[in-house]
Amino acid sequence: MKIIDGKVISQQVKDEVKQKTTQLKEKTGTEVCLAVILVGSDPASQVYVRNKKKACEYVGFKSLSYELPEETTQDELLALIDKLNKDDSVHGILVQMPVPEHIDEKTVIDAISPLKDVDGFHPMNVGALCIGEKGFVSCTPAGIIQLLKRSDIEISGKECVIVGRSNIVGKPMALLMLRENATVTVAHSRTADLKSVCKRADILIAAVGKPKMITEDYVKEGAVIIDVGINRNADTGKLCGDVDYENVAPKCSAITPVPGGVGPMTIAMLMNNCLESALRKAGE
Ligand code: GUN
Repeated sequence: MKIIDGKVISQQVKDEVKQKTTQLKEKTGTEVCLAVILVGSDPASQVYVRNKKKACEYVGFKSLSYELPEETTQDELLALIDKLNKDDSVHGILVQMPVPEHIDEKTVIDAISPLKDVDGFHPMNVGALCIGEKGFVSCTPAGIIQLLKRSDIEISGKECVIVGRSNIVGKPMALLMLRENATVTVAHSRTADLKSVCKRADILIAAVGKPKMITEDYVKEGAVIIDVGINRNADTGKLCGDVDYENVAPKCSAITPVPGGVGPMTIAMLMNNCLESALRKAGE
């Protein structure tokens, strides 16, 4: 059984981004720049935003940080996005989700220029992924593809079952696995006999947000298990995934731990998307 180490693989990705960032600067003078917007003071979002800024520093990007009060109006936020859309020195714009209730998430996503939408949330980028055109791909599913490829796990021809159908993980994950020639099933809370559906999987991807839901009776002997869940135990404060790791690990051929599996890949792929945006703009 192989443990897929997301810390090691995300470090490789960030080091590659760092090297290409230096080359781009030497060749064209471009300084890659990511604008990060946080509205309100959700503690988890503050941690994510801090980590994104730290990653920018590591790979050599400039980061612009906008930490706006909870009372910020939707119009004020849209005005800031508009300004950043028009700013030629900005390559990526990210609004940390969730936004406060008085702001409409969809309106915000739609307002970001698809050319700077490094989260890959804009309908134009989702559509591009769907029909196999160039665009930005949501960072967590893109990171999972890197985990599989860099662990020499064959995707083509395999049965892949994804549990969860969110816009930012389940759906783009299905499209990416399809692009890699897997046979894809998307299961969800209404799926009949979820256990037997999951048991078909050569590659099982759990993105449901239910702690330790996937136990060994959902898993085929020798399957590859990707755990996207990040659940915090209210009593111990410890993180756990959607997969019961101790229970499942002996039965599978490879598995991602939580923490240290999928999690670190998301920010690495965000850096990669932002570099990609700057490369496209520079015509590289
Ligand atoms: N909130 C939780 N995950 C994400 C993400 O990937 N991007 C943004 N912008 N907000 C999030």
